[in-house]
Amino acid sequence: MDYSAKVMDHFSNPRNMGSIENSDGIGEVGNAKCGDIMKIFLKVEGDRIADVKFQTFGCGAAIASSSMATELIKGKTLEEAWKLSNKAVAEALDGLPPIKMHCSMLAEEAIHEAINDHLRKKGLEPWND
Ligand code: FES
Repeated sequence: MDYSAKVMDHFSNPRNMGSIENSDGIGEVGNAKCGDIMKIFLKVEGDRIADVKFQTFGCGAAIASSSMATELIKGKTLEEAWKLSNKAVAEALDGLPPIKMHCSMLAEEAIHEAINDHLRKKGLEPWND
C-alpha cells in the first residue's frame, strides 16, 4: 500500500496530539469496523477554535487524518470547522488509499461531536449533518 509523503509526515510527527484541560467541547467517536477510537478537544473563543488537540488510538491513516484535520480547523470558526469533510482532509494529505478512506471519517465525525458537545454545554441546539 502506498502512502503519500504527507501522510507519512503527519503519522510520524503528528501535530496537536494530546488533550486540553478545561476544554470547551470533547468529541469521541469509534470505528465499528476496526475498533479504532478518536477523541478531539476544543478550546473555543467567541465562535472561533482557539486550540484543538486529539488523541487517536488507531491506524496510521487515522492518526495522520487527525493531525491534518486539527491543523485545518485551528483558528477557524465553528461553522467552517463543521464543513470540513473527510474528503478535504484526505486531499490535504495528498490522498489516502481507497481502503483507508474510512479512517479519515473518524476526524470529521469527532469534530462534529466536539462542536455539538460545545453547543450543548452552552445550552444551544446541536447541529445536524
Ligand atoms: Fe481503523 Fe483506520 S483501520 S481507523
